[in-house]
Amino acid sequence: MGTVFVKVARLDQILPGRGTAVQLEGHPVALFNVDGHVHAMDDTCARCGASLASGTLAGTDLRCPECGWHYDVDTGCVAGVPGLRIDTFAASVEDSDVLLATESPPPP
Ligand code: FES
Repeated sequence: MGTVFVKVARLDQILPGRGTAVQLEGHPVALFNVDGHVHAMDDTCARCGASLASGTLAGTDLRCPECGWHYDVDTGCVAGVPGLRIDTFAASVEDSDVLLATESPPPP
């Protein structure tokens, strides 16, 4: 097993200050463009399950579109709930393709 990077979007699909919902091997992931840097985290709110990609972004602070929990899109941490965070994913951009890190399957 090792880390591999999988293409999930093109950079021009992720508008600054907004979220974009993608799938990483069937798992819902939200991408955010913060000043040209792509951040990726689970696209499921830990409180009630809303899609976080449609939340309101200000810097790295994301407000959930449903009942308003705030997340840091860099760390996945929930503001005001110590110890609670959702998964984040390492992202990179190559030739305008957005790639996310995932574990490669074990060899057959
Ligand atoms: S669904 Fe996110 S705070 Fe309720």
